[in-house]
This record gives sequence, structure tokens and C-alpha cells, in this order.
Amino acid sequence: MPWKTLDDMELADKVVLVRVDINVPVENGVVTDTTRINRIVPTIKDILEKGGKPVLLAHFGRPGGTPNPDMSLKVVLPALRAALGVPVHFAENCVGGPAKIAVSKLESGEVLLLENTRFHAGETKNEPMFAASIAALGEVYCNDAFSAAHRAHASTEGIARLLPSCAGRAMQAELSALEAALSDPKRPLMAVVGGAKVSSKLDLLGNLVSRVDHLVIGGGMANTFLAAQGINVGTSLAEHEMADTARDILAKAAHAGCNILLPLDIVVAAEFKANAEHKTLPVAECPEDMMILDAGPETVEKISTVMAGCRTLIWNGPLGAFELTPFDAATVAAAQKAAELTQAGTLISVAGGGDTVAALNQAGVADQFTYISTAGGAFLEWMEGKTLPGVAALMT
Ligand code: 3PG
Ligand code: MG
Repeated sequence: MPWKTLDDMELADKVVLVRVDINVPVENGVVTDTTRINRIVPTIKDILEKGGKPVLLAHFGRPGGTPNPDMSLKVVLPALRAALGVPVHFAENCVGGPAKIAVSKLESGEVLLLENTRFHAGETKNEPMFAASIAALGEVYCNDAFSAAHRAHASTEGIARLLPSCAGRAMQAELSALEAALSDPKRPLMAVVGGAKVSSKLDLLGNLVSRVDHLVIGGGMANTFLAAQGINVGTSLAEHEMADTARDILAKAAHAGCNILLPLDIVVAAEFKANAEHKTLPVAECPEDMMILDAGPETVEKISTVMAGCRTLIWNGPLGAFELTPFDAATVAAAQKAAELTQAGTLISVAGGGDTVAALNQAGVADQFTYISTAGGAFLEWMEGKTLPGVAALMT
């Protein structure tokens, strides 16, 4: 790997500034999903074991550069303490007096969490002065926040240029899984891309058609492609103004030898609603007054057959309106097939981005994939072939 890891760093008695992503969902003051917190545990334990003192830098929400008690990181303390099983202290500010005092009081075996870095405008602006003031708190920088690495912020990018820096364990795991899936994959390689809009995933589709052998397009964006090919999609969610773009992507795929899989059959209903009255039809037969809410069983069969011949799968986005039963059927069935092939040892499966993890959890297979990324925007930008500033800064 072109970047250093914790194994390369001398940490004994050193204050290690660790950028983590604990931007977790909270309801009524309680963390409702601890996945991101659990992922950073190995890094913090390794630092403690090597005699280092972990000081955590993190953002929470988007407070826009001013302190906001509703976006205080205090709310994650109970979950963080439970996951780590060691004392976790808190400083009310990530720079200045409170931070310096808390760092100086930190004993070996303990962890310190600093308040939301985004309470300072210098964070998102990546101001050198602000980066220098957080860097001054420690001696080593460790970035374990892949899911924030698409942001060139002071705590993800600027600081890495000021201190000896390395990737944490979660960052390492994330980068190796992503490299195995897209940079240096075992072929054939299939990508599944779903979700509502082609317009938000143009760069993604454009990059994938030149890299993958099979591209499954699902969800609302499949409708845009169907419509662009002259197929009536009724009242379906579709971006008709994107027809030329969709046709360009199909042409690019044909040129690159990428096999595009669009729905062969569809599940349609008159309303966008759970348990709406529905029927399954061939793709060309969507009634004028109905909308496509899922791919049908013939499509799932086709995806499964092609997937069975693949060695690597990268998945982003659901195939239908998975949040409404029973329109999650295609997503669930395809995800179960991927899990089965992964467990049988013939497929490397990597998934991530936005709704994807929720969809795979719903299918009950999230723990049967090779790797599930907790990243939203960063996973997408990485799949688009973009350089992530937080990762790039670790290489300098
Ligand atoms: C996320 O939740 O996607 C990351 O923590 C990044 O947050 P952001 O989109 O507010 O930068
Ligand atoms: Mg985001």
C-alpha cells in the first residue's frame, strides 16, 4: 500500500489524533445504529496497545461553522464508551484551552473525544491556521474515516500534511476491499447500480461502463433508460430530459463491451404506496396510468444467472422501491443470490453508499457480503474513479 499504517508508526507515549467518522443516526438523544462506532474500535485498541493516547477528531451533522448544541458529539459518548470499554473523556471544543487541558490530563489507557470539528468554519474551508491548531494537539495523525475522505477538510486533509500520518484499521479494510472490487478485480466483474436518479449517478455510470463486464441498472434510473429506448414507462419516476445522456451511456457501454442488464419484466402499481395493488408484466407493457416499482422475477433470474458466472460484484443502490413492501422483492432476491455465491466462495461482493446498506440489512444478508462499506458519498466518488482528498493526503 502506498500509505503508512499503524504498524509503521512509533506510538509509545504519543498523542495520536485519530480522525473518525461517528456521524451516526440519533433519535431522541440515542444512537440508533452503532455500525460506524464499532468499525473504529480496532484502531483505537491498537493505538492503546502500542502505548499511544488516542484523541478523536470527528464531525457530526452539518452545523455550518458555528457551535450548535443540537449537533454536539456528546450524544455519542455512551455508545462510544460501551463499544470501547475504556474511559472516554470529552472536551467541549476541539481547539484552544479546553482541548489542550483535556489532552494534557489524558492518562495512558484512556481516550479523549473532542467536540464537533465543524463548529469551526476553518474545518470545512480547510484553513491552514485551523489545521495547525488541531495538529498542535498531537504528535501523530491517523485517519480512520474513509466515509469522510471525499471532503478536503482540515481534519481529513490539511492536518495530514502537518504530522506524521497513517491510515487506521477501518480505513485500511475499506481501501483494500475497494481495490479488490474495482482497481484490481477478479473477472468477470458485475456492478449493480440502482436508486432514483440517473442525473445524480452520471459520473458513476460513465466510469463503470468502461470498467465492468456486466452492469445491472435498477430502480428509478432504469426507467430513464427504458424511456430513452422508446419504451413506455407510464407514470413511473423517470428523467425524460436525460434521454440523450442515457443513450450516450448505452453507446459507450456497447463500445467498451460492457453488457447492460435492464429490467425484462416489471412490477407495476397505480400508487407509490406499500402493499399497493400491483401486477407483473413484460417490460414493454407498462400501462399508461401505472408506475414501475420493482423489477420482476424474470429479471431477477437473469441477474442471478449472470452473477453466478462472475467473480466480483460491486453494489450500489436498490433495484426497486425497496422501502415499500412488496416492492423490495427484486432487491432482496438479488442480494440473497449475491450472499449465497459469496458464502460458497465463488464471488467477492462489496457494497456501499446511501440506501444500499439499509437494503441489504432488509434482505438479511449484510453480514454475508465480503465487505460492506459504511460510506455514502465517499463510496460513490470512489466508484466514480475520483481521487479522495483524505486518502490522497495520506500518500504525501
Ligand atoms: C456521511 O455521513 O456521509 C459522512 O459522515 C460525511 O458527512 P457529510 O456528507 O456531511 O460530509
Ligand atoms: Mg454524506
